[in-house]
Amino acid sequence: MAQRNWAELRARAWSTLRARRRILVATAATLAILLPLGWMWKSSLVPETYDIAAMGYPDWGGGPVDEHAGMHHGTPVKDLVADPDRPADVRETLTVRVKDGHYTVNGTSPGPTIEATVGQMVEVRLVNDNVPDGITLHWHGVDVPNAEDGVAGVTQDAVGENEEHVYRFLAEDPGTYWYHSHQVSHEQVRRGLLGALVIHPETSEAGVHEQLAVLHRYGDGPTLNGEEGLTTVDTPPGQRVRLRVVNTDNGMASLWMTGTPFEVMAVDGVDVNQPEPVTGERVGVPAGGRVDLDFVVPAGGARVDFGAGPALVFGNDPTGDDRPPLPRDVLDLLSYGEPADLGFDPTHPDRTFDYDIGKRPGFLDGRPGMWWTINGHLFPDVPMFMVEEGDVVVFRISNDSDSTHPMHLHGHHAVVLSRNGKPATGSPWVIDSLEVPVGDRFEIAFVADNPGIWMDHCHNLRHAAEGLVAHLMYTGVESSYLVGGEPGNQPE
Ligand code: C2O
Ligand code: CU
Repeated sequence: MAQRNWAELRARAWSTLRARRRILVATAATLAILLPLGWMWKSSLVPETYDIAAMGYPDWGGGPVDEHAGMHHGTPVKDLVADPDRPADVRETLTVRVKDGHYTVNGTSPGPTIEATVGQMVEVRLVNDNVPDGITLHWHGVDVPNAEDGVAGVTQDAVGENEEHVYRFLAEDPGTYWYHSHQVSHEQVRRGLLGALVIHPETSEAGVHEQLAVLHRYGDGPTLNGEEGLTTVDTPPGQRVRLRVVNTDNGMASLWMTGTPFEVMAVDGVDVNQPEPVTGERVGVPAGGRVDLDFVVPAGGARVDFGAGPALVFGNDPTGDDRPPLPRDVLDLLSYGEPADLGFDPTHPDRTFDYDIGKRPGFLDGRPGMWWTINGHLFPDVPMFMVEEGDVVVFRISNDSDSTHPMHLHGHHAVVLSRNGKPATGSPWVIDSLEVPVGDRFEIAFVADNPGIWMDHCHNLRHAAEGLVAHLMYTGVESSYLVGGEPGNQPE
């Protein structure tokens, strides 16, 4: 009896030991996985309040390094304003209301179109009637002084309920632009806080019918100037038309014409040099981008179709209200029009930056998932592209992710040098919004001539909210605002 007990005890002791060892090994293995994960999780957390200039890491693009940059040395962003002594020529008040999650500007969406002429000082008073999150206005495509750029937490504080804010900028470059909120922008823009802005040249051509087409999806179907379906414009045969198209959506828009050839006069507000007539091709307009078309209405009428959505008819409908098929060929702006002087030499840039977009598993502010990366890094540990005023800057943008990205740099216009190694051969293709499809690689160049801290992000605003955001920062500039904080600044 005693003998059996002893053997049993020993067996039990051994099995307990074995079980303990298994637990130990399992615990160690778990810790080996959990500890680095925990560290990754913890280091992904975005602070409640932070200075954008102190986030991420500086990327000097191969140019000279300024050790003091970003450390509160230099001109504060808030001082980078338009000439305060110049009286306003164009004055607007825009009042924003939200109701059932839909935003209106002076009671409509799109909001009123702001029109100015080159040389005029524009002054817009933004009033927040009842938006609890706060609002701002960003002048998409207008290279305004930094403090007028409308990015909550970077160039101003969000404008709270019952508060107001005045924007002032000189209308310098004629073209088609738009405005939208840059506070919780992935919600506020989609839900209507937007409008068009047209800057006319000093002398406008007489006898041209101006037509605006603001494309937006409010949730249901796609709309044009807030309307679904077909819009008819009463224009006689022989009428010359300038059609200004603004894509305010998160995705690419396609447009094509039936009844007459057309010319692409301008892209992102910049004139195309010697555009040729286009027939049988469609034009792609990236999210945030604009194109201006020029055509003459023929006797049989003309029609412009926008994707599977709305259409514009000038005079008669040449299709007899049959949706014409989407042309297979896309107009290639890389070879459209005739070359012209760029105004600077991009062949020996002062700085060259990579902006490689990827996707990988990780944590974004503590949330596990597949997230966008910039040069392999997850937000907020992304590059701060550092430049000095006067630098010639080249960006090499490539997309190694599984989704297309309409990339938008604030405060500057850049010229496309090449796509997938193929140099541009047409008119200078100047952009502020550039579609970068999966697998593609672009080289773009610009002169750093507008000091400040400028967002450089994906204009699929959901992607921006998922971390596809970096900034271009000038040496000699210091930040004035904080993301988060009391005003709840949340630019994306
Ligand atoms: Cu139209 Cu940063 O945006
Ligand atoms: Cu994107």
